[in-house]
Amino acid sequence: MDRAELIDKAPVVVAPLKRHVFVCTGKSCSSFGSEAVLETFWGVLAQKGLLYGKRGSWEGSVIVTTCGSVGLCQVGPAVLIYPDGVWYYGVQPQDVEEIAEKHLIGNKPVERLLARHLPEDQLLPALH
Ligand code: FES
Repeated sequence: MDRAELIDKAPVVVAPLKRHVFVCTGKSCSSFGSEAVLETFWGVLAQKGLLYGKRGSWEGSVIVTTCGSVGLCQVGPAVLIYPDGVWYYGVQPQDVEEIAEKHLIGNKPVERLLARHLPEDQLLPALH
């Protein structure tokens, strides 16, 4: 497959993405309501023009997807934000606006929800 065909079949490969939000929809996080958190991320970020994809816009800079368990099962729902290395726990739909404003727009993590924030020296350098 050449690059043009790849882009045609998967335009995400050239999307103007800056961040990837993972909402855990594993069994435990689902039991804590992670589906509602996921839907709220899609809605709030679409409203702010940040969401990439058919629920948002093809110009959006944040992609929001599900992920499987990351080990925060007893304190979910878990939300991870990359490349920032931020892991949030116990996220509820009412927290999403604050995460969007403080973290995704303001570049400051929401301290009260932080399970872990990987130190910069533990993050791998960019590959380019
Ligand atoms: S099910 Fe979400 S962290 Fe385990």
